[in-house]
Amino acid sequence: MATKMEIVHVGLGDRAYDIHIGQGLLGRAGELIRTISDRKRMMIVTEENVAALHLKTLQGGLAAAGIESEALVLPAGESTKSWPYFEQTVEWLLAQKVERKDLVIAFGGGVIGDLTGFAAATMRRGVGFVQIPTSLLAQVDSSVGGKTGINAPQGKNLIGAFHQPSLVLADVDVLGTMTNRDFLSGYGEVVKYGLLGDAGFFEWLEQYGPKLAAGDVQARISAVKRSCEMKADIVERDETEQGDRALLNLGHTFCHALEAATGYGDRLLHGEGVAIGCALAFELSSRLGLCSQEDPSRVRAHLKAMGMKVDLSDIEGDLPSAEALVDLMAQDKKVVDGQLRFILARGIGEAFVTADVPMDKVVTLLRDALD
Ligand code: GLY
Repeated sequence: MATKMEIVHVGLGDRAYDIHIGQGLLGRAGELIRTISDRKRMMIVTEENVAALHLKTLQGGLAAAGIESEALVLPAGESTKSWPYFEQTVEWLLAQKVERKDLVIAFGGGVIGDLTGFAAATMRRGVGFVQIPTSLLAQVDSSVGGKTGINAPQGKNLIGAFHQPSLVLADVDVLGTMTNRDFLSGYGEVVKYGLLGDAGFFEWLEQYGPKLAAGDVQARISAVKRSCEMKADIVERDETEQGDRALLNLGHTFCHALEAATGYGDRLLHGEGVAIGCALAFELSSRLGLCSQEDPSRVRAHLKAMGMKVDLSDIEGDLPSAEALVDLMAQDKKVVDGQLRFILARGIGEAFVTADVPMDKVVTLLRDALD
């Protein structure tokens, strides 16, 4: 059965843009980009794994609409999101004589999207860019909403800017080349949307999650679409994270401490940490009497049914003590005036932001989780 292309609009006034979600979008990239730009030449920033699998298709799709393209192929992996590769990207774009009216194409996962978006934000006081995200995590989260940046030796994402893309093309066909582990890590962010604001979507995921993970294209399109709709809605309300946008950080306070403790590497992928963090946030909410005991059980049951990491014991190797994890949380950039903010929930789909959390309860929760 042919699938339909879905469009989610991000209504940000003169920075508004569309997210196209569907199959075969790489091959149609030129035709779709033509609707927002008449430039005849475009610059693509990508990484070696994505380039080997998909660059030809994308360049063919651009050429079909009369767009010539040049590509910068960077190494794959988180360490590319750093000063040296930022410098290389900016110098390459300058050598390509990028002008403010040009469009730079970010073609890859979150690392490439964040790095390229930041280069576009800073060059010539703001060059337009198109996100063509190739991982589930990038399609449902990092390519939408305009957060761009690189990591500093002092911490992740500490250097960056808000710079909205001009268009996002989420081609679900490319998800077929992801490893199961990377796919499920991205799914951690999908579940997060249901948990933070849409109980009906969480219920849908309980039913269709396994099908979606097994490769059902229509289920993938529906999940990416609903995730993008929810993110667009929150970003429209609070583009620069003065309030509601923090809801997108459900599970992330725990996740960042666990990522820091495990060295931001292969021991724990970001979305795996988000899933474990969501389970901990619901357990904490239940212990604080905010939601029923069934809610954390339901969250855990779904993550387990998906074959995802749920417990701290699912992370290979030793973890630091509960107190040390809480210290790592206190270094999170979401700390405001020295106070750590948590995203807790009154039920599935009913998350809220609060700084009012007794830290002894967090320590006890982590001690029990480490037991
Ligand atoms: N990934 C969280 C945000 O975009 O705000």
